Amino acid sequence: MSLGIPQTVAIIMDGNGRWAKAKGLPRTAGHKQGANNVRDIALACNELGIKKLILYAFSTENWKRPEDEVGFLCKLPGIFFNMFIKELMEKNIRVTFAGELNRFPQDTQDVINKAVGMTEKNTGLELCLAINYGSRRELLLGIQKYADQVAKGERTNDITEEEVANYLMVPEDIDLMIRTSGEQRISNYLLWQIAYAELIFTPVAWPDFDQKELNRCIQEYQNRDRRFGGLTS
Ligand code: FPP
Repeated sequence: MSLGIPQTVAIIMDGNGRWAKAKGLPRTAGHKQGANNVRDIALACNELGIKKLILYAFSTENWKRPEDEVGFLCKLPGIFFNMFIKELMEKNIRVTFAGELNRFPQDTQDVINKAVGMTEKNTGLELCLAINYGSRRELLLGIQKYADQVAKGERTNDITEEEVANYLMVPEDIDLMIRTSGEQRISNYLLWQIAYAELIFTPVAWPDFDQKELNRCIQEYQNRDRRFGGLTS
């Protein structure tokens, strides 16, 4: 029996730079096109009935990139929401984020918080941007919070696997993780949450990752046999 639509999908949107280089364009043009594609894929996921789409837009390691590229990536959420928030609202999409916003310019933080606030009652797809996100940092912050609560006597020292989720920025298990552009790495993304995710690596660069390729990935997912360590699905 084939699987249904995945509830939680995480994407590592890789290949913007190579996409731009192949066209003789600056890397930032690849990121701009990548942001436009976020709109298309979010709308497609909403139509498919996916519950949550988590997109790796900026990692804790991306600060190491050249200053002009970091500057552009920091501005992208603002550009994106100014262009598309009206449409996301009309489509009943809820915007959230995972990561530490405080290192971003104030205007970027303001635009993101506004998008989150405006859409918080929407009941369609949850579009979660992972920005200044790193899974090890997420786990570290969660462990620190837990240790602090135990030290203060606010809770007992008997945490369960299920309760770990309460200390994470992304509490859900991931059903399907896709990485575009041919690289086969996880790059510090949702390490706890992908324990039983199906992984798909597609050679298509993120700006070219269209609805057809999304559907192909979902079909591949549906044909997988998820056993969660048991013998039958
Ligand atoms: C990896 O490609 C991509 C990133 C580090 C940034 C991803 C960001 C976007 C797609 C846009 C963000 C959208 C919103 C809405 C904020 P790369 O630059 O590493 O590509 P390369 O491996 O070909 O150099």
